[in-house]
Amino acid sequence: MPKLSLRDLDLAHKRVLIRVDFNVPIKDGTILDDTRIVETLPTIEYALRHKAKVILCSHLGRPKGKPVAAMSLRPIVDHLRTLLDQRIDDGENVAFSPDCIGDVAREMANQLESGQTLLLENLRFHPGEEANDPVFARKLASLCDIFVNDAFGTAHRAHASTEGITHFVPKSAMGLLLEKEMNFLGKVLAQPDKPFVAIIGGSKVSDKIEIINALLDKADAILIGGAMAYTFLNAQGQTTGKSLAEPDKQDVARAALAKAEERGVKFLLPVDHVLADKFAADAHTQVFSGSEDFPPDRMALDIGPDTVELFSTEIVRAETILWNGPMGVFELAPFATGTNAIAEAVAANRDATSIVGGGDSVSAIRKSGLADRITHISTGGGASLEFLEGKTLPGIAALTEK
Ligand code: 3PG
Repeated sequence: MPKLSLRDLDLAHKRVLIRVDFNVPIKDGTILDDTRIVETLPTIEYALRHKAKVILCSHLGRPKGKPVAAMSLRPIVDHLRTLLDQRIDDGENVAFSPDCIGDVAREMANQLESGQTLLLENLRFHPGEEANDPVFARKLASLCDIFVNDAFGTAHRAHASTEGITHFVPKSAMGLLLEKEMNFLGKVLAQPDKPFVAIIGGSKVSDKIEIINALLDKADAILIGGAMAYTFLNAQGQTTGKSLAEPDKQDVARAALAKAEERGVKFLLPVDHVLADKFAADAHTQVFSGSEDFPPDRMALDIGPDTVELFSTEIVRAETILWNGPMGVFELAPFATGTNAIAEAVAANRDATSIVGGGDSVSAIRKSGLADRITHISTGGGASLEFLEGKTLPGIAALTEK
């Protein structure tokens, strides 16, 4: 069922509580990556231009139900003022409430004028947020006339500010970012332009098996990289030395390989590997190819050049590309080559719709400087994975139907 959108509502002079995902990396009060804040600006700007009284709420980190100074949202206020001021007159008018519920928050919310913004302190300073406590949810709801969820990154959590609150407000709508994420990721699931190539990496088969299974029903080719590839190779009988692998997941891997064959989905595993004698930037490395057993004292930490070529051949002819998970230990320079080469191949296919989701692949694409050549970079880590697995996200399911 389509959900109500921010654009369907009359916001003028209403108190509009927007759940955002400002769970951004902050060190000593400095924001290290403001992507999630920037991505929410269109929603905030839209509400302000339509004369709403905007109240923003978010979590930051996992403070376990108690105030933790290092997880305060206060450092975000100044940055938000600067960002909003660049887009809208009077945008710098952002106040901060030191608590997200209670007398101070209520007072500040009630005193807001149309076109002004109030940011509430970290929701997770209260245990009721993660417990989805109805008493806490009702208190949050009492601050507003309309609730908008723009926190796609947290939509997989059934918390008070994402799910519980919707039971106590007359209307709950999607924000523009949530809508954009659903449109891009939803299209991949519903009707991807073909050929549809999915690149799945990361360390564990157990983390990615559900998305692989979901994609086996949609994709034309699935390219597997990262340490999870070694569990697949083990399942095919190749030993992989000291490479990370999950021996207890070989059955699951075999079942996925069989399903791919049955459906005619190309399921490509690495054909060569960068082997190292230790997990370190100064390790001795060598490229190893073929289906022979790996030397027992070596571990694979990246895909090799032949694999890059093999995968690139699929990527270049794709109309839809989905990428989730790095190809190797890209945080260490000697093992970043495979991931960077795949990033380049994805970015080079300008005709395809390219979608990158998942924390590590997103940071890899940003590090490579190619982010602006990707059609859509999801702000959701766990949320985008669960969405693509076909799961219902509670923060979306709870919103008012159109
Ligand atoms: C994220 O960073 O994935 C979201 O903000 C959700 O955070 P959480 O995993 O702590 O619930």
